[in-house]
Amino acid sequence: MSQPQPGVRTTEAEAGPGTAAVVVLAAGQGTRMRSATPKVLHALGGRSMLGHVLAATAPLGAGDTIVVVGAGRDAVVEHLSAVAPAARAVVQEEQRGSGHAAAVALAAVPDLRGPVLIVNGDAPLLRAETVADLVAAHRTSGAVLTVLTAVVDDPTGLGRIVRDGEGAVRAIVEERDATTEQRAVREVNAGVYLGDAAALRDSLARVDGDNAQGEVYLTDVVGLLVADGALVGGRRAEDPVDVLGCNDRRELAARRRVLNDRVLDRLMVEGVTVVDPATTWVDVTVTVEADALLQPGTQLHGTTRVAAGAVVGPDTTLTDCEVAEGASVVRSHCSGAVVGPGATVGPFSYLRPGTRLARGTKVGAFVETKNVTVGEGSKVPHLSYVGDATIGTGSNVGAATVFVNYDGVAKHHTTIGDHVRIGSDTMLVAPLTVGDGAYTAAGSVITDDVPPGAMGVARARQRNVAGWVRRRRPGTAAAQAAAAAGDAGAAGAADPRLRTDESRRAVPETHSDE
Ligand code: UD1
Ligand code: CA
Repeated sequence: MSQPQPGVRTTEAEAGPGTAAVVVLAAGQGTRMRSATPKVLHALGGRSMLGHVLAATAPLGAGDTIVVVGAGRDAVVEHLSAVAPAARAVVQEEQRGSGHAAAVALAAVPDLRGPVLIVNGDAPLLRAETVADLVAAHRTSGAVLTVLTAVVDDPTGLGRIVRDGEGAVRAIVEERDATTEQRAVREVNAGVYLGDAAALRDSLARVDGDNAQGEVYLTDVVGLLVADGALVGGRRAEDPVDVLGCNDRRELAARRRVLNDRVLDRLMVEGVTVVDPATTWVDVTVTVEADALLQPGTQLHGTTRVAAGAVVGPDTTLTDCEVAEGASVVRSHCSGAVVGPGATVGPFSYLRPGTRLARGTKVGAFVETKNVTVGEGSKVPHLSYVGDATIGTGSNVGAATVFVNYDGVAKHHTTIGDHVRIGSDTMLVAPLTVGDGAYTAAGSVITDDVPPGAMGVARARQRNVAGWVRRRRPGTAAAQAAAAAGDAGAAGAADPRLRTDESRRAVPETHSDE
């Protein structure tokens, strides 16, 4: 829990335009989620629900941000310290209703004066623009409380806004307590309220739990203030989608879809090609430049940045990655990786944190990398594991090479110089250095450093046992084929197409297939 800040007491004047404090109600059980995770911590579009609400209210620059926690409070408090360290958690020991939660929050800031924004923690589609519009409406109306409302097609489960003949808000009635006539109302309470701190304190103290749920409803302050003769305003949200809450997993999926559509819409307007919006998922925290292309099945998460001219996908997931201009990442799964300008990755590769691919590099098919720097123009084309390594420029790592970085206890580093050719199926047993311009022979287990320009060979010499098949596998198709080829056991004549061991030794193959 963040510490109360002694001496920091924000007045309306100090807080600047409109709001002295923000109170987020996040103590509820979220029973309908049927989850061990507190409802407000469920994530969509790269943030928790709570994170979205905090992001929408942050631009107000309020002096205090108070988050009421209760159910699953340890997890919520820990999350808060990560995403909003300046926010202050206040504990509501027993979840006695949204009105009780608001009262607990206001009790934690007894000296607070002026307008306070109170917002449900389960409103992940709320936007800063909508909040700003509510603040502006409140300021000019002279109301003591202004409620954000929306006119929706299906008001099921939501509090209905009851207005009088002049259109003034008279009350909010929860569905369970509503008359048939009230239930027909399609203007609903969004769960976002802006009101004077003193008036809220006073009216909240008078709310009873005399309703179908036996809870202290925040919504009941409206009726109480109206009875006092105060003006209560109702500001309709321009886009009713903004105010939709999220109470179960079906709503979570629906809200996630809306959030994603908003992000993709913005990206397309800004010049990004999204081939298939239905299968492309981009977090609100991701940056994609104009003229990048996202293929179907692409998922971009966290702090990922994709530059102009880059191509991502199909079927690629990037978390906290950087993809530079003109690079491409195809059918791969990457986290914490930097893919340099014009570099290519995939298909089917797995780039793990600490991977840094310089300009024009290639990480081809079925390659796993971790904590590795690959220099300009170097290539790891096929079927390799590269961990804890530095690779210079213009080098090539042959197919099926393994950087053997782990001895069972500790990790060790491998350094590969410039213009090196690592032969296919080389085991590079770290710690190890392969100097500039050096080669390793295919199939070698390299345990010692290879000096610049040297060929490292570390494999058993081949021995051919002449006539073995004729003697040990008589009567087989192989023996017949061997006999037809005039194998050694028959006539002593070698097939001229076969190279001898001698000729082979002169050129240890590296098979550095580009
Ligand atoms: C609430 C409103 C309803 C509105 C709807 C909008 C009330 C009584 N009703 O209904 O008019 O249309 O939101 O989505 O407020 N909470 C606490 N402590 C508690 C109880 C709740 O912190 O003891 C928090 C919850 O975590 C949640 C918020 O208050 O963020 C609202 O509670 P919830 O139970 O979700 O209310 P709804 O039934 O959705
Ligand atoms: Ca709710």
